[in-house]
Amino acid sequence: MQNPIGLDALAIAVPEGYLDMGDLAAARGVAPSKYTEGLLVSKMAVAKPHEDPVALAAKAAKRLFETSGADLSKVGMCVVGTETGVDHSKPVAAYLHRLLGLPERCRVYEAKHACFGGTVGVLSAIEWIASGAGKGRTALIVCTDIARYGLGTAGEPTQGAGAVALLISEKPRLLTIEPGLDGSYAKDVNDFWRPLYSKDAVVDGHHSVQCYLDALAGAYNSFKQAAAEMDHRDALNVARRCYHVPYGKMAKKAHRHLMALEGKTEAEADESYNLEVAPSLRIPSQVGNIYTGSLYLALASLLDTEAESLEGKRVALFSYGSGCGAEYYVGEVVKGAGAYVKALKLSQPLENRRRYTIAEYEAIRQADNDVDRKPVEAPQAAQNEVAFLGVENERRVYKA
Ligand code: HMG
Repeated sequence: MQNPIGLDALAIAVPEGYLDMGDLAAARGVAPSKYTEGLLVSKMAVAKPHEDPVALAAKAAKRLFETSGADLSKVGMCVVGTETGVDHSKPVAAYLHRLLGLPERCRVYEAKHACFGGTVGVLSAIEWIASGAGKGRTALIVCTDIARYGLGTAGEPTQGAGAVALLISEKPRLLTIEPGLDGSYAKDVNDFWRPLYSKDAVVDGHHSVQCYLDALAGAYNSFKQAAAEMDHRDALNVARRCYHVPYGKMAKKAHRHLMALEGKTEAEADESYNLEVAPSLRIPSQVGNIYTGSLYLALASLLDTEAESLEGKRVALFSYGSGCGAEYYVGEVVKGAGAYVKALKLSQPLENRRRYTIAEYEAIRQADNDVDRKPVEAPQAAQNEVAFLGVENERRVYKA
């Protein structure tokens, strides 16, 4: 029998400040309950200019190696999933490779498919190891994004920023993931996109919700097919479900949809939601949408709360990327994960964040518009993390 393959370590990174949704509601003349109950979001992370997608990715990845004790010199593949690339050609992963000091014998690239880019990396890594091509090495996948919609638009309360780093290995300490036991779905739709001339996303909001639900049904059906083909029908029985979380309410809608496909009523779905889904929404509700990392922020939230009691049980993962591509797959929580997760301190990055005023948030947004041409500035004294300093001679400069 093949060695188990799966998720060995996980770490998140968020910017140093956030916007409280009550403050945003007051500024936009909206009832706060629309955001806190209607969308199930309470805080939204805001990235300052020095906290670009490279800096956030490096912060998450450094934290992963520090907290897990994993060996950096064993990494043979490094994929960055992002839809907030910093260049049309040079991948975020190339900067990350240097900032972390990863081995030169390493396959390094960026994957883009809206919020689905990180999952593409995770599943490719599983298959890379399963094929034998990894030769005992590990794969680092980092999902990093800054979600931006226009100020005052319906999308504004569903922004966020952050990164999630995941290490895939053949000795996983968190989740085992079986190669090939996954359900894919793809369809060309116009629900959400980010034109080359704009930092802000263009979105057909209500249509995007429907596209997400259609993709969930499609991916779930494909998963059932894969489970039948692999004689693995028990894989449909899961203890918890993590969905892609653009905002908490979307995960709740997703769960109702999936339960309806299984013949359950809305009341039955809402009852199982509290047990199966709610624990995964605690961290996302404090951070907002981080696009590629959103599903894995939900997984971090779940493991942080319940890893110990879930040992030996299955967790379902649904990844959706607008445009669109989706995948439904499962992982089994490894024995010993509960004790190990305590050492990972998954939610620690949320402590000690600064609450921005609306004026500060809008000024940060304004500064972000021109950030890719900003001349190099000296790092601020307080900056002890990787930081984007600006552009010199057409080159992006980072403080390591
Ligand atoms: P909206 O039109 O302003 O909101 O935009 P709404 O009127 O639909 O209200 C939202 C909910 O709040 C509703 O609940 C209201 O009833 C409720 P629901 O019917 O949905 O259960 N509500 C209230 N509740 C309590 N007190 C009140 C109150 N008022 C209303 N006073 C929308 C909402 C999500 C469309 C908007 O924020 C948006 O466009 N967001 C961006 C798009 C998005 O996140 N889409 C999600 C699916 S697509 C996806 O996930 C991919 C993505 O991550 C990108 C990628 O893949 O790269 C986005």
